[in-house]
Amino acid sequence: MYTSQVMRVFVIIPAAGIGTRMAAGVHSAAPKQFLSVGGVPVLVRSVKAFLDVASVDAVCVAVRGTERERVEAQMQEFNLGPRVHMVEGGSNRQESVGNALTALECDDDDVVLVHDAVRPLIDSATIERTIEAVAKHGAAIVGLPALDTIKQVERTADGAIITSTIPRERVVLAQTPQGANFGLLQRAFAEAEADGFEGTDEASLLERAGVEVTVVPGSPRNFKITQPGDIELAEFYLNQTEGAR
Ligand code: C5P
Repeated sequence: MYTSQVMRVFVIIPAAGIGTRMAAGVHSAAPKQFLSVGGVPVLVRSVKAFLDVASVDAVCVAVRGTERERVEAQMQEFNLGPRVHMVEGGSNRQESVGNALTALECDDDDVVLVHDAVRPLIDSATIERTIEAVAKHGAAIVGLPALDTIKQVERTADGAIITSTIPRERVVLAQTPQGANFGLLQRAFAEAEADGFEGTDEASLLERAGVEVTVVPGSPRNFKITQPGDIELAEFYLNQTEGAR
C-alpha cells in the first residue's frame, strides 16, 4: 500500500495549550485536552486513535512541564503502552511541534503527522488516508469543504465590513492531522524559524516553503474542542456511533 517498505510513521500531538477560551465557560479551568469525554480524557482519546492504526510506529506528545505527571498518570491508567513518548511543550503550537520534531529520530522519507490534542474524534480511516496521501504526494492535510458562504472582511471598531466573497468551492477548512515527509517538514520549520514566521498549522509552513500540500476529506466530527458546549457535542457524536453499533 505504501511506497516504501522501510518508511515509518511518527505522530506528534501538541497538547501544551492552556485552554483559556474554555476556562471562561461552565467547565473547570483544566486545559480542554484533559477534560473527560464519555469517561475518557480528550488527550487519551486522540492518542488512542493513532495507536489503533497499525502502521503508526510512535506517538510523541508535547506537554507543559507542570502537566507531565498528570499526563503520565493518564497514559498508565488507560494503558497506552510503549509507543507513546513525551516532550516539553513550547510557548505556542508551532514551538511545541518544533520541540517534538527535534526529538524524533527520523529518516527524511518517514511520514510525520501532527494532530491537535483537542480533536479526539479523528477516525482510523481518515488517519490511514492521510498517511497514504503523504507517502504518495509528500505532504497532506485533512480539510473540510466549506458549506457556508465565505466572506473576507476588514475588522472595524464596530465589528467587520465585508470586502469580498470567496467562492466556497475554492475553500476548505483546515483540520488535522497534517503531515509531510520528515525532511520536508523539518525544512519548512527551519525556514519559518529563520524568518520569524509563526503559523497556526503545519500546512502554512509547508506552503511558504514551496511544498505542494494535498487535501484529504475531513468530517464535522473531527472538530476542535474549543468552547463551552463542545464536550457535550463530542459526547453526542460518540453516542451516535455507539447507537449505530
Ligand atoms: O490553541 P489552539 O486551539 O490552536 O491549539 C491547538 C493545539 O495546540 C492544542 O492541542 C493545544 O494543546 C496545542 N498547543 C500546544 N502548545 C501551545 C499552545 C497550543 O501544544 N503552546
